[in-house]
Amino acid sequence: MSLFKWFKGRDPQTDPTRTALKIPQHIAIIMDGNGRWAQKHHLTRSFGHRAGAERLHDITDACGRLGVRYLTVYTFSTENWKRPDEEVQTLMNLFVEFFHKYDSSLKQNDVRLRFMGDKSALPASVQQTWEEAEAESFHRQGLQLILAFNYGGRQELIKAARQLAQDCCNQTLQPSQIDEQHVRSALFLPDVPDPDLLIRTSGELRLSNFLLWQAAYTEFWITDTLWPDFDEATLLEAIRAFSSRDRRYGAIKTTRG
Ligand code: FPP
Repeated sequence: MSLFKWFKGRDPQTDPTRTALKIPQHIAIIMDGNGRWAQKHHLTRSFGHRAGAERLHDITDACGRLGVRYLTVYTFSTENWKRPDEEVQTLMNLFVEFFHKYDSSLKQNDVRLRFMGDKSALPASVQQTWEEAEAESFHRQGLQLILAFNYGGRQELIKAARQLAQDCCNQTLQPSQIDEQHVRSALFLPDVPDPDLLIRTSGELRLSNFLLWQAAYTEFWITDTLWPDFDEATLLEAIRAFSSRDRRYGAIKTTRG
């Protein structure tokens, strides 16, 4: 059942599942399991990644309809260069194809496209697609879809450290002045709030160098579902679990009396 139908048939005043649902402002996803999905279906890994790209489009659409403001997805890590050349090439091609194939539907849904990662090391076609998608969608007001591509959390923190060190060398900043706000301002997308919910598919229990700074107080939800099988119903399951979490950010719950 589509999310749209799921909501349409329910009265928010009387439906306890609907009223209890808290929609995260920012969802991050580690889209894992494309390779295992392909193996299970006797297909090549490239097919797995292609199926994963289609799922990404569906979930972007669902998040937009639900009112999620930011969706950040891990599409290519700084460690993924270690994969066979053919697979790296497939992922580079998919990046370009994704934005061409879904250009009109992303536009129709008012989706703004943003990126985080080291663009300079990528093929020219990827850099061009990245820049065009960013520029063309800049004024869109809907969901912000953020692709972490050639991204690593450690690499992002090294970039921030270098920038702050440079500011200190230029004497525009004193080391003793550096606080959380300074570090945040040197990250790839300082204006984007930290993720509320991080979903990882395929049952792996690790962060894999994703959003190391930003995930400090993010709620995790892990599913055994392989990414190409992840659908709207599974997304809702994650959001329902998130809705019941008690987020204390290191404090304790205040009680009366
Ligand atoms: C991890 O699964 C997935 C990736 C490294 C790539 C994620 C890419 C997509 C979902 C497609 C969308 C991509 C673009 C560029 C729009 P895995 O291959 O490690 O799976 P495995 O652990 O089962 O082998």
